[in-house]
Parts: sequence; structure tokens; C-alpha cells
Amino acid sequence: MTFDVATIKADFPLLSRVIDGKPITYLDSAASSQRPQSVLDAMDRYYRESHANVHRGAYRLATEATDAMEGARQKIADFIGAPHAHEVIFTKNATESMNLFAQSWGRGHLHAGDVVVLTEMEHHANIVPWHMLTESIGIELRWIPVDENGELDLTDLDRLLDGAKLLSVTAMSNVLGTITPIKRLADAAHAAGATIVVDGSQYVPHLPTDVVDLGIDAFVFTGHKMLGPTGVGVLWGKTELLDAMPPFLGGGDMILQVTKDGFTTNELPHKFEAGTPAIAEIVGLGAAVDYLTALGMEDVRAHEVSLTAYAMRSLKERFGDDITIHGPSEPASRGGVLSLIYKDVHPHDISQVLDQDNVYVRAGHHCAKPLMQVMGLNATARASLYLYNDEADVDTLADALASADDIFGF
Ligand code: ALA
Repeated sequence: MTFDVATIKADFPLLSRVIDGKPITYLDSAASSQRPQSVLDAMDRYYRESHANVHRGAYRLATEATDAMEGARQKIADFIGAPHAHEVIFTKNATESMNLFAQSWGRGHLHAGDVVVLTEMEHHANIVPWHMLTESIGIELRWIPVDENGELDLTDLDRLLDGAKLLSVTAMSNVLGTITPIKRLADAAHAAGATIVVDGSQYVPHLPTDVVDLGIDAFVFTGHKMLGPTGVGVLWGKTELLDAMPPFLGGGDMILQVTKDGFTTNELPHKFEAGTPAIAEIVGLGAAVDYLTALGMEDVRAHEVSLTAYAMRSLKERFGDDITIHGPSEPASRGGVLSLIYKDVHPHDISQVLDQDNVYVRAGHHCAKPLMQVMGLNATARASLYLYNDEADVDTLADALASADDIFGF
């Protein structure tokens, strides 16, 4: 498939929507992407033709449903370079994946006074689960700081990791777009005897991913930011790490045996998948992976670097010092997440002004309040780019932003 944005855009039914006579410009894919027709078709076909419960029935439909789900698991494993499909655990979203990891791995490995290292640029989903363990177990949190360019300041990395049990870090900031040096962090964590878990929610949709090459132990991400449906996320972990973790939720499918005296756990991946899974959504995520694979993640990344460079350059040329774009200044070190401050207009007002032109961006703290505190901000207006965005979308954003001047009387 060639990387032609007009053709790609045409694959996404929602993007052709016209509201009040105007087309829409969707610039909020860091919050949730849109999905192509092939994903909608895969889920529709599954429900129309093959739905039954999985891993339970011996009849035709149950076998088809199980094959569809397990086929999707294999596709997702291949997409992230996982050595084994059984290392891909399906959850509800990245938040549930990180909570599963924190509760299960934490329960098995952490005691009062043990150290978990985070960074100041984490999403709440990679902060609050650890705060919860601080409250229940009494672990200690240490924080890798963020510098003025929006990069991790690794000056004190070895000291912060000294004696730590775990490093839990994002691969790409959802506020700044910063791509963090995961390989270096993994090496440093392992040298200190710590395990490393990575939040890949903003990374997997946008860059080629290979969990083995990254050198990490566990990885979480969500389906709805990578063209898949809501309601499905993934925890990947090395087999030996997952084998050593106690189950998280108890119920059907995760057991081998249950008696009045107790239970024994099923093998991976079922051990962590109690209850009926989101089968149609998993099938949809498999179709999303097919779509991304056909495009080629190298080409997805190349398109986003070039579009991010265009956006940063053209917004600066047009608005000069009136606009601040937070995060790394070099497009190759970041994703297409543009956290903007425009003059002294409140980000929520920016979002509302843009909404009048059907330009959709997210305003707020982006579920990263500690980072906002470090940056001295309450909120930003965040435009986030994806494979279906083009330079015309960036120009529409700039035109809509300029209209704030009339409304606020600059
Ligand atoms: N984590 C999502 C975001 O950054 C919701 O917007």
C-alpha cells in the first residue's frame, strides 16, 4: 500500500462527516483515534457470522470465535515483536493493564520500603496504581525529572535506580510527545537489578515496536488509540515474569481446577483473562493491526515526523512568540502531540473556538497533573496528529486559531 493520506482518509467513515455544512478536522488521536472501515467490518462480520463464547464450546461457532480471537492475539504478538502469543494478555485498556501489573507483580514482589521509580511525565494510569501500593504496602516512589526541553533528565538515573525494584516509564509522553530512551532505561534498570515496565499507549500506534529489541520486561498499551475499538487493551510480559505473577481477577477461564478448598490457575494467557473477554473488540484490534501492517509502521512514522515538522514550523512562522509548543523542538525526537499555549487564551477557550470550525483538539491537564505542575501550567490545548492527518489539517488548525483573535479582541 502506498502512503497516500487522501486514500487513507477515505477509509475512515467518520472523517467524512460534515457538521453544519463544514467538514471536520480531527486532531485528537492521542485521546482516541478513529477506525477504518475494515475494523468496523471485521467486528460486524464477527457478530453476524461467528459469535459464540470462546474456549468453552466444541461446536462450529465456538471454534470459529476462539480461532478469531486467538488469531488476533497472534497478530498482535507479531506486531510488537513478542516471542510468544501467550505473552499477550487482553485487558480492557492500558489503565487496566497497568493496574493488573501493579497489583499482581506488586503483590508478588514488593514490600514496605521497596522503591519504584517513575518519571515526572507519566499519565495518571502510571502514577495512581503506584500511589495505591504506597498506601497499601508502603512502597517508596522516586521520580526521574523532566528538563526544560521536555526530555527526561537522566543525570541522576543511577542514583534514582540504586536499590529500586521497578522502573515504570512511558515510551512517549501524551502531553509533550517526547520519545523516551527506553533501551537506555532498560539497560540501566537491569544493571541496578530492577524490572522495567513500559507504558506504550502513545508509542505502539505511531512507531514500529519490538519489545525484545527494546529490552523491556513488560509493556502496556490500548486498542482505541491504534485504530482499534474501545474496550480492549494489552499487557505483554516475558513468559517467566508472567508465570511468576499471581492472578489478578478470579473467575471462569483462569482456572485449571476449583474445589471447595481452593483453585489452581490456568496456563498463560488464560491465567489473567477471567470471564468472557471482549471478543469482538479483540477481533477488531486484530483488523486494526492488519491495517497498520499493510501501511507499514516505518512509513506511518515517517509521515508523522514530516507532518509534525510542518506543523511546528508553520505554526511558529504564522504566530511567532504568540504561540508556545511544548516538548522537544526536534521532530525526530517526538511524536505528533502538540501541546499549545496561544497568547493568554485559556486552553478550554481555544478548544471551544476551534470547535466552531469543527477543529477538534483536547484541552486540559491530559491526565498528567504532576507534569503540569512541573511545567507550571494548569492546562494546554493539545492537537495530536495521526496517519490520516495532512498539511491541510494543520493549515485549518492555524486558520481556526487565528479566529480566536477576533473573538478575544486581540
Ligand atoms: N490518555 C488519553 C489522552 O492523553 C486519554 O488524551
